[in-house]
Amino acid sequence: MQYTEKKFEIPDLNGISKASVDAHLGLYAGYVKNFNAISGLLAEYAKDSEKNAHALSELIRRRSFEFDGMRLHELYFEQFEGGASPLAVDGALTKQFEAEYHKVEYFLAMFRAIGLMRGPGWAILYWDPETKQFLTGFSGEQHQGHFVTLPIILALDVWEHAYLLDHGTTGKDKYIDAFFKNLNWSVIEQRFVNVAK
Ligand SMILES: [Fe+2]
Repeated sequence: MQYTEKKFEIPDLNGISKASVDAHLGLYAGYVKNFNAISGLLAEYAKDSEKNAHALSELIRRRSFEFDGMRLHELYFEQFEGGASPLAVDGALTKQFEAEYHKVEYFLAMFRAIGLMRGPGWAILYWDPETKQFLTGFSGEQHQGHFVTLPIILALDVWEHAYLLDHGTTGKDKYIDAFFKNLNWSVIEQRFVNVAK
């Protein structure tokens, strides 16, 4: 049950430095490594679950934190690959934003506000295939507050490590603006098309 660190082709970003991206990719690599290490330990401790009950409970809690950190960062970095491209004005994603939020700008402003919520975490846009609607959420840290089973369309990391180097402790708003400027919306559109059939 070993996962492999993925490699991303991140172009030069506007308002997010290469140094910050490289440090962030290093954190992502840590999640993959830690998930694998914990999985190995669990297999060992499972040989005597009763004796290792306390260690098992801590590792089980820790493992989903590492896994969600791994997957969310993969979604995050993919969104920059290929370079910035605008949201297609006549695309399926725009139509759904307009159906639910009247204007794309209203959705973006709300998503930005979710990103500005206090505390480390992620602003996330999910799609519910059952009711065919978006759900927006805030995951505290990265393993809490998820809408389980729903596919993720857009993921914004708002941990301090994402912006501290470039914008300081009070620069989350500037970082979020930069995040939007650098998005390759075709990646996000494709995610939506894949699950909204
Ligand atoms: Fe992060």
